[in-house]
Amino acid sequence: MGKLFSKFIFKNGVELKNPVCMAPMTTYSGGKDKFLSQEELSYYIERSKDVGMVITACAAVQSNGYGFVNPFSIEDDSNFEKYSQFAQAIKKNGAKAILQLFHAGRMGLREVLDDKPLICPSAIPAARPEAETPDEMTVDEINLLIKNFGRAVDLAINAGFDGVELHGANTFMIQQFFSPHSNQRTDAWGGSLNNRIKFPLAVLAEAKKISKENNRSNFIIGYRISLEELEKPGLTLNDSLYLINQLIEQSVDYIHISLKKGYNQCSLIDTNNLEPIGRAVINAVNKRVPVIGVSNIFTKEDAIDALAFGYDLIAIGRAMIINPRWLNFLENNEPVKRRISVSEARDIGIPDGLINMIKQVQSWSGLLTD
Ligand SMILES: Cc1cc2nc3c(=O)[nH]c(=O)nc-3n(C[C@H](O)[C@H](O)[C@H](O)COP(=O)(O)O)c2cc1C
Repeated sequence: MGKLFSKFIFKNGVELKNPVCMAPMTTYSGGKDKFLSQEELSYYIERSKDVGMVITACAAVQSNGYGFVNPFSIEDDSNFEKYSQFAQAIKKNGAKAILQLFHAGRMGLREVLDDKPLICPSAIPAARPEAETPDEMTVDEINLLIKNFGRAVDLAINAGFDGVELHGANTFMIQQFFSPHSNQRTDAWGGSLNNRIKFPLAVLAEAKKISKENNRSNFIIGYRISLEELEKPGLTLNDSLYLINQLIEQSVDYIHISLKKGYNQCSLIDTNNLEPIGRAVINAVNKRVPVIGVSNIFTKEDAIDALAFGYDLIAIGRAMIINPRWLNFLENNEPVKRRISVSEARDIGIPDGLINMIKQVQSWSGLLTD
C-alpha cells in the first residue's frame, strides 16, 4: 500500500514522486501544425498533477509515419518552442515528461498521408480487411528512419523532456521489423530472429548515442513492447523475452509491456499456459531494469495488486482519461468513475477528437454513456 505513494528511483538516479505513470494515449486532436491543440495541452496539464511520470501520445518521427487523424508529429524542429512548453507543462507539478516516439509503418492512415506510400520492412499488408500493400523499405530508408528517431530524441532532450519511450508495440513500425509476419526481408534487416531485432536495437543505440552527445546520462530511454502476435507467423513470448534481454544488455532504462486484457492476463497464443504473461517478463528481467505494467487498473485495489504482482511501475490509461486526478482520488479514498456522460467528458477537458474516437472504438466506448 505504501508503495503506491512512495517515490521510485531509476538506476540513473532519476526520481519519480510515485510509481504511477499516465499511459501513452493519442488524443486525435492535433492542429494543422501537427502539434497538440490548446485543449489537448490543458488535458495533459490536469492529468500530470499527481502522477510520477507522464508518457505522452506517440509522436511520428517522419511525415510518412502518421497513424491517426489529426496527427501529432516531431518530424522536424518547426514545433520546437511548443514542445518545450509541453514538457514544462507536464513537469510543473513534479511529474517526469516522457515523449513517446513512433512511426506507423504499414499501419499508416491513408487519409492523413496524402499520396505518400505506406512503408514497411516487407511489402506485406497488415492482416486486416482491405489493408493496403506497403512498399518494402530500401536500406537507405531504413538508415534514414533510424537517424530520424535520433533527431527526435535530440529535439526531446533540448525541449526539456526527461526521456523518450520507443514505441515498439501495438503493431507499429518498430514491431513490424521485429515481427516475422511483416518482416520477411532476405537482407541483414530481416529473416532470422537475430536480424529482426536489429532495427529495434539500432533505434535504441541511436537514441543512446544522441543522449550521450548531449551529456544527458540521466535521460530516460524506455521501450514499449507487445509480447505476442496472433498472426501466423507471429511474435511469440519467447521472441519477446529474447529482444527484452538484448535491450537490457544495451542499457535500456525500462521495459513497458503493452497489454489489453488486464495487467495479469495470460498468453493469447499458448492458452495452456496459466502463468500471467507479465510475470514471465518480470521473472526474465529479474530487476535489471524496471518493468511497467498496464491494463485495466481502475481502483485502488487494482493498483495495489498490480504493484504486489511485481511491476515496478504501473501505467494508467482509460481510468485517467475520465478521472483526471485519479491518483489524488485514490489517496483521498474517493470513488473512481468507470463511465461518464459526454457532457461531463467535455467539462473535464477531454478533447472532442478523443471523445469521438472513444465512441467509435468498441473497447473504449464503455467509458461514455451517451
Ligand atoms: C484513447 C487511447 C489512445 C491510446 N494511444 C496510445 C498511444 O499513443 N501509444 C501507446 O503505446 N498506447 C496507446 N494506447 C494504449 C494505452 O497506453 C494502454 O496500454 C491501454 O489503454 C490499456 O490500459 P488501460 O486499461 O489502463 O486503458 C491508447 C489507449 C487509449 C484508450
